[in-house]
Amino acid sequence: MKKHVLFILLSMLGCSCSPKDEMDEVIEKGLHVSIEQSKRMAELLWNRKDCLPRTLDKDGDLITSDSKWWTSGFFPGVLWHLYEASGDTLLRYYAEDYTARVEKEKYNKGNHDVGFMLYCSFGNGYRLTGKEHYKQVLLKGAESLSTRFRDHIGLIRSWDFNEAVWQYPVIIDNMMNLELLEWASKNSNTPRFAEIARSHADATKKHHFRPDYSCWHVVSYDTITGKPEKKHTRQGYSHESSWARGEAWALYGYTMMFRETQEKRYLEQAEHIADYILTHPRMPEDGIPYWDFDAPDIPNALRDASAGAVMASAFIELSAYTDMKRSGKCLDMATRQLKTLTSPEYLAEIGTNGYFILKHSVGSLMENSEVDVPLTYADYYYVEALLRYKDLNK
Ligand code: GLY
Repeated sequence: MKKHVLFILLSMLGCSCSPKDEMDEVIEKGLHVSIEQSKRMAELLWNRKDCLPRTLDKDGDLITSDSKWWTSGFFPGVLWHLYEASGDTLLRYYAEDYTARVEKEKYNKGNHDVGFMLYCSFGNGYRLTGKEHYKQVLLKGAESLSTRFRDHIGLIRSWDFNEAVWQYPVIIDNMMNLELLEWASKNSNTPRFAEIARSHADATKKHHFRPDYSCWHVVSYDTITGKPEKKHTRQGYSHESSWARGEAWALYGYTMMFRETQEKRYLEQAEHIADYILTHPRMPEDGIPYWDFDAPDIPNALRDASAGAVMASAFIELSAYTDMKRSGKCLDMATRQLKTLTSPEYLAEIGTNGYFILKHSVGSLMENSEVDVPLTYADYYYVEALLRYKDLNK
């Protein structure tokens, strides 16, 4: 742990009513509920070997996905994280089974989300078990993902649909898939994977951000000139609005890229994005953003727990890299976010919420899809953030 993070935590310890004890309780409670819910979910879908949990419909019934859907790797990842936290071998047994359900996506060349799918499932599995087979799946997946990169554009193509509107769409979420490539480069001695990741991160840094460091969701590139042709949104309120989960992916993505490369430009980018979020006048005090920072009905707009969870995880990591002043602010925000997400407003009661962990996320409000529901990726980043916070105390 960096000295200043230790100092900030020790300062917290020095207070009369100790925030550290309070956070210990938050983490303990969050992990307990997560374990109980996830075991029930794993049991529920045990015999449906092609299914992974995704969300609930409007009637509260479970919606599952097959492995092709972009969220397929999150539930296996939750199980690995919870096995890591508890050492409970039943969780490991479940994690292995649900991870295997995603394996065929290593051949998937039609989707930039291979990074999400495989790194959250097989990536955590490999980190915790060192299984050679898991490593080979990840390397094959990195190879598939790399086929979506075009040298003259310098970016990985995100989507293949809507070709009448977007020639070569790249979404900010795609930053998250670079972690698989960075890992693969180091673990196979293949510089090309890292070159692709860094080229993508650099071009995204150049074209995806406004002067205030808010970002566009979709930037489409001209396939001949390689230059941006359109700056749009799909899941945000409008092309010029600031979609909360997009900001969260950006914060997490550049923080991760700094960890993987030690390149100062990525740290600086993450710091700018952090400052944008930390000082945003419409960021609620409790740390859970509205689904879009520019939603017209703020303060009545829906909050997005998934964006809050991704941000919390990223802020905890960034707090270890950035200067002391910003580090304190990042930790303070992550603390508020985790407290709020662990409150009854967001954390499920055991046995409810279709066995998902968190309530109140927003998938794509403008498409009236997955609005104010549990989402498997909110659960993943919440559990990851709990573990990251716990690690700070080590
Ligand atoms: N990557 C899709 C989303 O964030 O909704």
